[in-house]
Amino acid sequence: MPESLSPPPEIARFAGSLRAGGVVAFPTETVYGLGADAGNSDAVLRIYEIKGRPRFNPLIVHCADLAMAGTLAEFSPLALRLAQFWPGPLTLVLPKKPGARLSDIVTAGLDTVGIRIPDHPLALALIGAAGVPLAAPSANPSGRLSPTTADQVVKAFQGLVPVLDGGACTEGVESTILAVAGDRVTQLRAGALPREEIESLLLQKLATDSGNGAILAPGMLASHYAPRATLRLDATAAQPGEAWLAFGPAPGAAANLSPAGDLHEAARNLFSMLHRLDETATRIAVAPIPETGLGEAINDRLRRAAAPRG
Ligand code: TXA
Ligand code: MG
Repeated sequence: MPESLSPPPEIARFAGSLRAGGVVAFPTETVYGLGADAGNSDAVLRIYEIKGRPRFNPLIVHCADLAMAGTLAEFSPLALRLAQFWPGPLTLVLPKKPGARLSDIVTAGLDTVGIRIPDHPLALALIGAAGVPLAAPSANPSGRLSPTTADQVVKAFQGLVPVLDGGACTEGVESTILAVAGDRVTQLRAGALPREEIESLLLQKLATDSGNGAILAPGMLASHYAPRATLRLDATAAQPGEAWLAFGPAPGAAANLSPAGDLHEAARNLFSMLHRLDETATRIAVAPIPETGLGEAINDRLRRAAAPRG
């Protein structure tokens, strides 16, 4: 949307609600988010309540531009290089700036903050019109499948939150999360920005844990993204009673993440197809997905969806 045009009335209405402490759902390029003013503790608390989210799990803060992000976190030269991926599906966990207008509930009391600039015109227009950074987790009840359409959000919260409809998300899996501490960059969550792209910008390999085994992203529980149906992974065919979610040519499959074997298409279809199969099937068999590129994020979500439920 060109800056000279005023935002459509819907954006103005949603932005007004956010400024007044409301919670609204909005589209991003990855998944739909459940957003509130990141500086308003009461509003942020409502996100946790609506999602049923454990309080120790911090939220990602969505900014309209680097200037807004710079009010919240300290950007080292290395962090600024990574910010070249913005707007885009990358979250940077950075040292929180002293005095930042940021509720402690957003960061779950940590001295770091997770920030991203989403690559979606409606998200950027909404944040810009609200004029404040938006704390937003994925717009699903905690532990369930993430939503990639407005309809899924409406169903998940039974109309409790207003949803800004931006159609289907183009990426379909959540952002990649990197922690930047000194000269060390650690991938906390595989996501829509493939590891290979980050490593080729940095000319260095990403670390995958802190080196001491600590859990770095508090939200990375083993069981997550769970459909109601049980999942069987690396399935080369369906057994009786299973719905087969295929990848690559597979005539007769219940659904196919990408008949052409394209990982971007598969990522985009992943949550939508799981949502759809979950409406009728009790057992879903999923084809093997290569572990390269976006396959790392797809396999991460599938393994969590298949994990024993706590
Ligand atoms: O694509 C996305 O990232 C979507 C859209 C809406 O932007 N959001 C999303 O949020 O996936 P959520 O809440 O479902 O996942 C946020 C993850 C959690 O695993 C949380 O623990 C981690 O980010 N996180 C947030 N702040 C953090 C911090 N300061 N340190 C470590 N991990 C953090
Ligand atoms: Mg989530």
